[in-house]
Amino acid sequence: MNNPYQPIPAKILEVIEETPNIRTFVLKPEEDIPFLAGQFVELTIPGFGEAPFTPSSSQFEREKLEMTIMRVGRATGALFTNKAGDVLGIRGPYGKPYPLDKFVGRDIYIVGGGVGLAPLRALFLALVHEIKKYGRIYLRYGARTPNDVVYKKQLKEWEKIKGVDIDLSVDSADGPWERKVGVVTCLMDEIPCDVKRSVAVVCGPPIMMKFVTRRLLEAGFPGESIYLSMETNMSCGLGQCGHCRLGPYFTCKDGPVLTWEQIKDIEEPFL
Ligand SMILES: Cc1cc2nc3c(=O)[nH]c(=O)nc-3n(C[C@H](O)[C@H](O)[C@H](O)COP(=O)(O)OP(=O)(O)OC[C@H]3O[C@@H](n4cnc5c(N)ncnc54)[C@H](O)[C@@H]3O)c2cc1C
Ligand code: FES
Repeated sequence: MNNPYQPIPAKILEVIEETPNIRTFVLKPEEDIPFLAGQFVELTIPGFGEAPFTPSSSQFEREKLEMTIMRVGRATGALFTNKAGDVLGIRGPYGKPYPLDKFVGRDIYIVGGGVGLAPLRALFLALVHEIKKYGRIYLRYGARTPNDVVYKKQLKEWEKIKGVDIDLSVDSADGPWERKVGVVTCLMDEIPCDVKRSVAVVCGPPIMMKFVTRRLLEAGFPGESIYLSMETNMSCGLGQCGHCRLGPYFTCKDGPVLTWEQIKDIEEPFL
């Protein structure tokens, strides 16, 4: 039997600078990593160890795998010293994917903040790959400043897709910016879909998740239709160590995507 802790070598094909502290690593794993949108992998970073990240590329693109990563501390600092040609390791995929079968025929209202657009990009690309199966796809994205917006070019391309509706905001505009200024909830004053029949998907910093969820509930989304990426501390990724416990759940196994209905009784779920 294969050792579940054994990473698969993955060569870095390209490193794309998204913002001053966020980069997309384009990787070519030696074996297929059959991830589905929403699942995560453990990335081996030479000289550091492992850390969990979510692929941001399409699950239908099997030749390469992309991860969009923000530099915050030791693991990500070590990762950012790597360049094209270096070799990392990947084990996984782990966790449950977005239940796309439950999204069929419904409008999908996606809200992202900061680097939280990374896992949502994998979802978005999976949805547009089979766009006829779904209703309208709304994407609301907020970043701190125009400089902090990830996927600048792709966002412009995605806006041209029929059936897709995108709106953007920044907390403060320190440079040229033609869209809204304000935290991401300023894009949610009017929610243009039938909330009782639609699905909402959220990923971003904990404080953003808290206020966006509150707004979605106020607008009338049922708790079981609000999908949240719960990126708690993880270690083994295999449901063995308990590092990722969130109330009754192990987020590595039961998540990382959980519905508001599942977590609503947990005290302070967004910590
Ligand atoms: C399932 C899962 C998927 C993830 N997917 C991604 C992804 O696609 N892209 C990505 O960039 N990160 C992602 N993360 C977060 C990523 O794993 C951490 O940022 C990373 O492990 C931090 O390691 P570090 O040693 O660099 O920072 P640490 O030394 O652990 O942390 C340094 C400081 O940064 C803070 N910090 C840690 N993580 C974050 C964060 N995400 N945002 C803001 N501050 C933070 C810590 O509280 C601490 O103050 C994911 C996490 C999980 C659990
Ligand atoms: S990370 Fe070990 S149980 Fe979830």
